[in-house]
Amino acid sequence: MTRKMLVAGNWKMNGLRAHLADIAAIGDAAKAHPGVEVGLYVPATLITAAAERADGIFVGAQDCHAKSTGAHTGCLGAAMLGEAGATSVIVGHSERRTDQHESDADIAAKALAARAEDLSVVLCVGESLETRDSGSAVSFVLDQLLASLPEGAAADWLSIAYEPIWAIGTGRIPTMEQIAEMHGAIRGALAARLGAETAAAMRILYGGSVNAGNAADIFTLEDVDGGLVGGASLKAETFGPIITAA
Ligand code: G3P
Repeated sequence: MTRKMLVAGNWKMNGLRAHLADIAAIGDAAKAHPGVEVGLYVPATLITAAAERADGIFVGAQDCHAKSTGAHTGCLGAAMLGEAGATSVIVGHSERRTDQHESDADIAAKALAARAEDLSVVLCVGESLETRDSGSAVSFVLDQLLASLPEGAAADWLSIAYEPIWAIGTGRIPTMEQIAEMHGAIRGALAARLGAETAAAMRILYGGSVNAGNAADIFTLEDVDGGLVGGASLKAETFGPIITAA
């Protein structure tokens, strides 16, 4: 089964119009590697401007509400994000699970809402350092994955991102063995829930302190189908080499 590599940047709460030139430069870096799918999940305020300038990359949103419209002050529905120019959305990022107290059920509902508006979805899972140190990282992540997985999950619109919380923004990454073990376990759980064919086609990204120095090693692992990149995705100089590594 060949899965097209996906390298996506998550700009989190970073980026003003002054940074649109970086999006164009990242597009140029992506165009040199047509075999890799490249996207940027920008702040909602930048989606339209980014989508207008995006050439060679897709533009996504970092969250969406589970409802399409209604009395939810400050929130954005999937149709709004699509109209703004997003073609994809991240759900279940650990920063939102923590800061906004999002539950697995919330996340599954958000993924379905995005799917209903034809947005692709990256569903994030990952364990804390405490869980890793307790030796239960794999069972924790699989439980989280299966509880967050939307009904009708399919590989043509859903990808999984494994992001150990303790690796995000810290410069620390798991060993290659730990990444391989987790990605293999995720694929196994997807096969048990969705069937072998869907699991074999679904992309599983690694996220957490991916940089130009470690990306090539991480991307050679059999069940790693790309990366979800935070800090290093803000500039073409640091994101370009990660795209090249894929
Ligand atoms: O979603 C990507 C992210 O959480 C990883 O961030 O800065 O460690 O690459 P970073």
